[in-house]
Amino acid sequence: MTVLVTGGAGFIGSNFVQQWLGARDERLVNLDALTYAGNLANLAALDGDPRHVFVRGDIGDRALTDHLFAEHQPRAVIHFAAESHVDRSIHGPDAFIQTNVVGTFSLLESARGHWDSLSSPDRDAFRFVQISTDEVYGSLAPDEAAFSEARAFAPNSPYSASKAAADHLVRAWFHTYGMPVVTTHCSNNYGAYQFPEKLIPLVIVNALAGAPLPIYGDGQQVRDWLYVDDHVDGVTRVLDAGRLGERYHIGGLNQLTNLDVVRTLCAVLDELRPKAGSYADQIRFVKDRPGHDRRYAMDARKIERELGWRPQHSFEAGLRETVQWYLDHQPWVEAVTSGAYRQWTTLQYGA
Ligand code: NAD
Ligand code: TYD
Repeated sequence: MTVLVTGGAGFIGSNFVQQWLGARDERLVNLDALTYAGNLANLAALDGDPRHVFVRGDIGDRALTDHLFAEHQPRAVIHFAAESHVDRSIHGPDAFIQTNVVGTFSLLESARGHWDSLSSPDRDAFRFVQISTDEVYGSLAPDEAAFSEARAFAPNSPYSASKAAADHLVRAWFHTYGMPVVTTHCSNNYGAYQFPEKLIPLVIVNALAGAPLPIYGDGQQVRDWLYVDDHVDGVTRVLDAGRLGERYHIGGLNQLTNLDVVRTLCAVLDELRPKAGSYADQIRFVKDRPGHDRRYAMDARKIERELGWRPQHSFEAGLRETVQWYLDHQPWVEAVTSGAYRQWTTLQYGA
C-alpha cells in the first residue's frame, strides 16, 4: 500500500514523513514543489530508502497529480503543502491563493478522479486528510473559551483566509461528491526543521548570531504551542480512525504570550550556550503585524475523546529539544539562511 503526502519537504511534512517511515512499512510518495520552505536536506535521513518516493512538482499541476494517482494508486492523501507564513501573505498574497486555494482545488479534483476509479472496498477505505490551522477561526478575546470544532470561520490574514477557503472546498467535496475527507486544525507548531522565518527558530537563529530578537507590538499576543511530533501523532490518528467529513482540533493545551515564549527561549539558550550577559538583552519591540490576531487557543477534547490523542511533550522539554536540535544542526541553518532568506529578513525587518 502507498500514501501520497504533499509538502513533505517542509517543516511539519518532513517530520511526518520521517515518523511514518520509522513506524510503518508502507510506501510514501512525497510531492513537494521545493519552494523556499521546502528542503531536501530535511529528508536526508531517508536517502536510499526505497519506500520513500520523492517527486518535485506542484500540487496545482493536474497532469502530474493525475499521473501520480494512476501510477501509485495511493490509498490516502495527507495534504500538508501550502504557503504557510502570515507575514509573507501580507507582503504577497498571490502565492497563497494560487497554492492554498487553487492548488488544493486541483488536488481535490485529481483525488476525486482517482477515488471514482476505485472499486469497493478500496473506495470506502480511501482518505483525503486536509491539514489546516487554528488561524481560520480568527482571534479570541482574553477570557473567551478556546475554539471548538463548532466555531464559525472568521479568518483575518490572507494566509488564514486562503486556508479557510481550501477547507471549505474540502468540506463541499464531502457533502456534494461524498469524497471521504477529514480535516485537522492545529495550533502553532515548533520543533526540528522549522524554517527560521517563524517565531521560535527565528529567535534561536538571531540569538546565536547576536542579532535583535523582534517582538511585534506589545508581545502580549497568545499562541497555543505544540511540539511537532505531537501534531504528527494527531494527524496519523485522524487518518487511521477519524470520522469522515469531521474536523478535529489538535492543540497544545499550552497558551503563552509571545514575550513569555521568547524569554523562555532565552533562558534555555543561556543554559545551553552561555555567553556574557543574557540573550534576553537582545529583545527588541518592533512595529506590530497588520491585522495581528490577539489570541488563539484550541479545545482539543474531541480528538482526545474519540481518538485517544493528547500532547505527550511538555513545552519545557519540547523547547529544550528544539534549541538543542538547532545548536546541533548549524550547517542546516547556514544553508537555509543564505541568499533569498536575507532578502526576506530585509523586507520584513529592515536592514
Ligand atoms: P512549510 O512552509 O514549512 O512547508 C510547506 C511545504 O509545502 C514546503 O515543503 C513547500 O515546498 C511545499 N509547497 C508549497 N507550495 C507548494 C505547491 N504549490 N506544490 C507542492 N508543494 C508546495 O509549512 P509547515 O509549517 O510545514 O505547514 C504544513 C501545513 O500545516 C500547512 O498546510 C499549514 O497551513 C499547516 N499548519 C502549520 C502550522 C505551523 O505552526 N507551522 C500549524 C497548523 C497548521
Ligand atoms: P509565527 O511563528 O509567524 O506564527 P503565526 O503568525 O502563524 O501564529 O508567529 C507567532 C507569533 O509571534 C505571532 O503572534 C507573531 C509573533 N512574531 C513576533 O513577535 N516576531 C517575529 O519576528 C515573528 C516572526 C513572529
